Amino acid sequence: MMSLLEIAKAMDVTSLSTSLKSITWLVPLVQSVHILMVGVVFVSILMISLRVLGRVRMDEPLSRTWRRFAPSLWGGVAVMVVSGVLLVFSEPVRELMTLSFRLKMVLLVICVVSAVVFGRRMRGAASVTAVELPLSAAMRAAAVVTLVLWIAIIFLGRAIAYDDSVWGSWSPAILQRGGSL
Ligand code: HEM
Repeated sequence: MMSLLEIAKAMDVTSLSTSLKSITWLVPLVQSVHILMVGVVFVSILMISLRVLGRVRMDEPLSRTWRRFAPSLWGGVAVMVVSGVLLVFSEPVRELMTLSFRLKMVLLVICVVSAVVFGRRMRGAASVTAVELPLSAAMRAAAVVTLVLWIAIIFLGRAIAYDDSVWGSWSPAILQRGGSL
């Protein structure tokens, strides 16, 4: 089986990777789009979580708040996946050989799956027009955990560039260089 390092090295010589490297303004442009989308995605998550916590938009049912912000959440996530994949192809070895990137991907999968599950529950509740009673403690705890996880994803995204300094000897980048910091 190919190691992740071998996969990264194979990605490094694809035509997508070489094209991305050869057009100097392309990577900064993709990075800018990726970073702008952090705002779109995070504000969407923030509004839905704050509604679950009973802090905003209490004059409408939760399912309506979800329908208001789900399109910007999914649109933003889609743009981030595409721009993120392009960023990985622009420097596959440096990206894949970081703990921050790997943790970010794990948390991202958890957050996206939980948002899909939540969205399905909201679709079931779409016919509810009355303003709900305060949501359960479990729902409110889940909203807080969701916010913490998305914030962790944002910090891990930024930490990719400083993986050695953030994680020390836990950073796979260090092992790859023979163990020296
Ligand atoms: C499949 C989806 C994604 C992939 C493949 C991806 C990949 C990447 C890559 C390769 C970088 C560049 C890191 C570097 O070289 O310094 C990056 C940066 C970053 N990403 Fe993502 N990302 C994805 C989704 C997200 C999401 C959903 C968020 C947060 C909501 C996010 C937040 C960030 C942040 C804050 C940065 C740092 C930008 C900077 O300050 O330079 N990413 N991402």
